[in-house]
Amino acid sequence: MDQQEAKEKMDKLITEINRFAHEYYVLDHPSVPDAVYDEKFQALLQLETDFPALTRTDSPTKRVGAEPLDKFSKVQHEIPMLSLGNAFNEQELRDFDRRVRNGLNKESVTYVCELKIDGLAVSLMYENGQLVRGSTRGDGTTGEDITSNLRTVKSIPLSIKETARFEVRGEAFMPHASFINLNEEKEKNNESLFANPRNAAAGSLRQLDPKIAASRNLDIFLYGYGLWELEENNYPTHSSRLNLLEKLGFKVNQERRKYDNIEDVISYVEYWVTHRKDLNYEIDGIVIKVDDISDQETLGFTARTPRWATAYKFPATETVTTLLDVEVSVGRTGAITPTAVLEPVLIDGSTVSRATLHNQDQINELDIRLGDQVVLKKAGDIIPKVVRVIKEERTGDEETYQLPTDCPACHTELVHLDEEVALRCLNPDCPAQLQEALIHFVSRNAMNIDGLGEKVIEQLFQKQLVTSIDDLYRLKKEDLLPLERMGEKSVSNLLNAISASKDNSLEKLIFGLGIRFIGEKAATILAQAFDTMDKLRSATFEQLVQVDEIGEKMADAVVQYFHKDEALELVSNLEVLGVNMVYQGNENIASEQDLLFKDQTIVLTGKMDYYTRKEAKQLIEKYGGNVTGSVSSNTDLVIAGESAGSKFEQAQKLGITIWDEETFKEEMKEVEA
Ligand code: IVH
Repeated sequence: MDQQEAKEKMDKLITEINRFAHEYYVLDHPSVPDAVYDEKFQALLQLETDFPALTRTDSPTKRVGAEPLDKFSKVQHEIPMLSLGNAFNEQELRDFDRRVRNGLNKESVTYVCELKIDGLAVSLMYENGQLVRGSTRGDGTTGEDITSNLRTVKSIPLSIKETARFEVRGEAFMPHASFINLNEEKEKNNESLFANPRNAAAGSLRQLDPKIAASRNLDIFLYGYGLWELEENNYPTHSSRLNLLEKLGFKVNQERRKYDNIEDVISYVEYWVTHRKDLNYEIDGIVIKVDDISDQETLGFTARTPRWATAYKFPATETVTTLLDVEVSVGRTGAITPTAVLEPVLIDGSTVSRATLHNQDQINELDIRLGDQVVLKKAGDIIPKVVRVIKEERTGDEETYQLPTDCPACHTELVHLDEEVALRCLNPDCPAQLQEALIHFVSRNAMNIDGLGEKVIEQLFQKQLVTSIDDLYRLKKEDLLPLERMGEKSVSNLLNAISASKDNSLEKLIFGLGIRFIGEKAATILAQAFDTMDKLRSATFEQLVQVDEIGEKMADAVVQYFHKDEALELVSNLEVLGVNMVYQGNENIASEQDLLFKDQTIVLTGKMDYYTRKEAKQLIEKYGGNVTGSVSSNTDLVIAGESAGSKFEQAQKLGITIWDEETFKEEMKEVEA
């Protein structure tokens, strides 16, 4: 066979294989048996082996790239990838419709309703008919280049019959069946499970080795576009553009509908509230978009969201299950937390078998008893909550529950500190606290010691190989080899990781010590301000509060910490064992450039539903921001929960960007994914 003939054969095979794949993965309607597909695929592979120079980059055999990446590179979105405003009830949908009609000065408007797929927003860029780049949304402006992973998604065409440069956007997701299989597989291998299909999809697309993404059976629905360099007049509506995408071979959701009044939109929404469970993928709401593109342009955007679209968010699902037991755990600071152990139930695609009960007050308030039928609600995404007890279902055999008076680990009497509701164990040698402290010490953002999972730490304590944090640096090969699941290789990796952690810059150690109120950011500020552990250890309260961003509570906690003999002994032992005690400059926090809130001053106001104030603050700090109490011209962003008052008004007056809680949550969902 000559080159010309081979090329023609290969082109023909690629066209056929792409058509079969389109029928199978996009239309869900194969026209040939799998064997025919396999046969063509093999024939193409053979030709590519015989004529390697003729192999096309968009060949279906080239979905999985050869080499894993070192890291993902950044992608600047030419057109920002925005998120959507939200509606939580009919009234808010009607309000949206009124705003749209007022804005357009029209009696009626045509809307397109689409399912809101719960996955990961991605962008696909095509040039000269070829997929040249696939990226995540990231913070909306900058995402990550995950082309090699997206190429493995079989419903994404690697080439299309349209040569104009354009960008399609959509949601990559993991269908239920793939999610269940994946978690079953993980369970078999004793690996930690994904909490829900969205995390599983995001986790798969953030793997550096495309072979892993390829094995995860991901799928995609395209619902929009960024750059659109096609003849605008031919596609004057969103629906016509979706139809074009479909014609070009993209997978567009078939449940989309067009309505010309809000009442029909509401009926569509109501239909999906009850029927979402019948889908084989997860949705978390309905997206409503103005169909006419010139109307969209007239309406425009607020700071973060389009005025021409909104997302109706489904109410959190409630499910009934049985309270089997209450388990009590001792945290790193000695706080006692009761956890409800539940008969496992499936809620919105994830199996829930535990829920926190917070403290005795909450147990009393709920009047929750062992054996009770309880109503569980998924507050937001992952964290389930027991919302009430179904008292009518009681048989009389249920038992009331009281938290223990003594620490379950060391039997010291538990106390309430100051005004705290939580009970605490104050024994500094409590093994449960030490174990938790060590888990924190080795965690990624602290000393970052890989290979030291909770199971290994548990064994180290049980076998008394470790009784305080510094013992970690005394571990030897002979200590570790007899532990379960520790072979030569993992022992040597672990010892290397422990040894490498000695060179960490000071802020990682300060954070790792687990001083109350000293998070990652405060640890960095302290390391920068004091430079050495020696100076920090002897700093006075006055010196500490003088440091920008170190408040009184933090300063007091640092002083208190270094007043304790155990802490001084631990630090000096670590020093003797060779752990670095000096701040090494900025090189270790280079990743700060990636931080969503880098150097921003942010104000939280109003009541939040999903996050506690503390959680929101921690997240902001984690991503480089600084939370302050009052709005001024120095404020970069205000995050306003419900019934936000004067701070909200002040922010509006000063023209400061305002996010509602939902926008914050969406952003967090993206960066945490
Ligand atoms: S449209 C400018 N349509 O929901 C509007 N988004 O906050 C861009 N999503 O980040 C979004 N299904 O990841 C749109 N049919 C759909 C969607 C959808 C899921 C996600 C998307 C976005 C978030 C909205």
